[in-house]
Amino acid sequence: MIKQISGNKTLKIGIIGTGAIGQDHIKRCANFLSGVEVVAVSDIDKKSAQNAISTYGLDAKAYESGNDLIQAKEVDAIIIASSGKTHAEYILSGIEAKKFIFCEKPLATTIEECQAIIEAEQTYGKRLVQVGFMRSYDRRYQELKKIIQDKKLGQILMIHAAHRNQESPENFTSEMVITDTLIHELDIFRWLLNDEFVTVSMIPIRKTSKAPKGLQDPQFALLETQSGIRINVELFVNCQYGYDIKCEIVGEEGVASLPAPAAVSICQHEKRYDQILANWQDWFLEAYNIEIQEFINECLVGKLQGPDAWRGYMATYVAEFCIESQKKGQEIAIPVLKCPDFYRSDNKIE
Ligand SMILES: NC(=O)c1ccc[n+]([C@@H]2O[C@H](COP(=O)([O-])OP(=O)(O)OC[C@H]3O[C@@H](n4cnc5c(N)ncnc54)[C@H](O)[C@@H]3O)[C@@H](O)[C@H]2O)c1
Repeated sequence: MIKQISGNKTLKIGIIGTGAIGQDHIKRCANFLSGVEVVAVSDIDKKSAQNAISTYGLDAKAYESGNDLIQAKEVDAIIIASSGKTHAEYILSGIEAKKFIFCEKPLATTIEECQAIIEAEQTYGKRLVQVGFMRSYDRRYQELKKIIQDKKLGQILMIHAAHRNQESPENFTSEMVITDTLIHELDIFRWLLNDEFVTVSMIPIRKTSKAPKGLQDPQFALLETQSGIRINVELFVNCQYGYDIKCEIVGEEGVASLPAPAAVSICQHEKRYDQILANWQDWFLEAYNIEIQEFINECLVGKLQGPDAWRGYMATYVAEFCIESQKKGQEIAIPVLKCPDFYRSDNKIE
């Protein structure tokens, strides 16, 4: 049985990883969301966990290790926001402890780890794991999905997309452009199109002088889906001007485009301009809030409906073929995997 949640309808949550997004989730739970209390935190950097408690005024315990937090009696559900390589171990411990788990992307960094997670979850027999693919909670993407489903554009032919960050961390690698950046597009296009990728080519572009040494930036990902849709994604993680996400869906009867967040327009000195957001936290602020609030609500009623472990697995799976293409400099075929019935029934893609 899943751990029974206290009768007063407050989900007592433990958060592992108090870096950038861990603190963001703590802040939204502490200040904006309902039905939740952060009762435990843990980070390999103990000072960071302590700082999070004092910064957000939490009545929470700082645990020495993530595994201790997972086992803690007072913790109903877990948010994993530590670095990607740590996810698999914590998710598997969480499943063993029979607790609901929200894990930031990626589900895990290798195909083998993802397989171990979906096997453990299926053996348990009920969904316990949700992956932090917040874009499907974004109203703009939801509208695009409805437009596609309602066949307003006729048959979809191609998608032009871009994922631009102002600047990348010093240690960012060409591979991380796939595993940390492109991974969002790898998930959202499966969700939007209800289609699978069958080929990928990663194409290097003339390097910007603004990128850290050794990083190939920008790059193109050229993807093809089972139904024949072609998708090009520009990945430019040192674009300088701000954070920017583009998605233009081209159908035989029209084109639909993802709008940027609305910004006040200023007229001054014979010019008109509006501000461009600098970071992902603000671009997807509403989507993150809805994503975590729905996770809380669904834990309280005992049934997760958000992005499942299969979606996490598929993104990591396709990312591995993207990495192979990047290394070999050629198009790579991606065998299509059959989704187990266990995930089909709960999967929002359908
Ligand atoms: N959904 C999104 O849009 C989104 C955005 C940003 C980050 N992320 C994901 O969230 C995760 C964290 O990213 P971030 O930007 O906050 O990184 P970060 O480096 O700011 O924070 C990571 C934290 O994890 C801690 N940590 C490392 N190993 C640990 C361990 N074994 N146990 C406990 N804590 C450990 C680090 O000390 C650090 O505080 C990554 O997987 C990243 O891909 C998702």
